[in-house]
Amino acid sequence: MSLAGKSVVVTGAATGIGRGIAECLLKSGALVTVVGRREEPLRELADRYGDAVAVAARDVRAAGAAEQIVATATDRFGVLDAVVNNAGMARFGKLDVADPEDLDAMFAVNVRAPAELIRCALPELRARNGSVVNISSVGGVLSMPGRAYYGATKAALNSLTRSLARELAPDVRVNAILPGPVDTPMWTATGLDGAGIDRLRVELVASTPMGRFGEEAEIGRWVGLLLDPELSGWVTGALIPIDGGRTA
Ligand SMILES: NC(=O)c1ccc[n+]([C@@H]2O[C@H](COP(=O)([O-])OP(=O)(O)OC[C@H]3O[C@@H](n4cnc5c(N)ncnc54)[C@H](OP(=O)(O)O)[C@@H]3O)[C@@H](O)[C@H]2O)c1
Repeated sequence: MSLAGKSVVVTGAATGIGRGIAECLLKSGALVTVVGRREEPLRELADRYGDAVAVAARDVRAAGAAEQIVATATDRFGVLDAVVNNAGMARFGKLDVADPEDLDAMFAVNVRAPAELIRCALPELRARNGSVVNISSVGGVLSMPGRAYYGATKAALNSLTRSLARELAPDVRVNAILPGPVDTPMWTATGLDGAGIDRLRVELVASTPMGRFGEEAEIGRWVGLLLDPELSGWVTGALIPIDGGRTA
């Protein structure tokens, strides 16, 4: 991959899929600004990969966070070539018990924050013919009984991806990856109890033709592909399911 020396922001890089993405990009020679609320796990990445990592401990919902994240990347690496909007929030529950506040909170993390980060990064991205990858979900295209609010925010992120792909072409490419189930810390923060999480895990693997969870690196490698203009320079507005066949 020709990602050597490319400056990339990855949000939600401390754990799960975001960590897998950050590590794939770092192994390909990219310079990565890692974003999350907790500083310590981000520092671990910096300890492991040295000067190739810049740490931006920020809540992506906070006022001014997007500007600060872009500034961290450009102060440290001089430029910004790409943004990976991975930080996400998932709160599950049927409509009659779901808290409408959760819808607002998910919209803020899953839709508003990615839009704001792209907006703030735009001068850099335009100047560098850069690229954006949004980490959406198969939940944005499947019907999601019991997870309707989450699915609605990911459908909105898919729409944002396709609209911005046209709006920003040909200068900046905008794509989304729609992961199927990956076993990450996200599942413990969904608001479901232990038995509910266990049931959902079994149900998700059973409805995935490949019969297993995906690995974080299986998402990370596709992000690398979408950021590399030599491999995907003619791909924009794509919603790519990397999902073990879950949407087949
Ligand atoms: N796991 C799956 O099966 C699956 C399937 C489809 C799509 N996805 C999507 O993949 C993405 C990553 O999820 P994951 O499964 O890897 O979950 P995860 O391990 O919980 O990772 C989410 C990351 O985002 C960070 N984060 C959350 N809220 C944030 C905020 N307000 N500001 C900054 N950082 C924030 C968290 O770090 P801090 O807590 O330190 O902030 C955490 O490192 C999400 O967009 C999710 O919707 C996941």
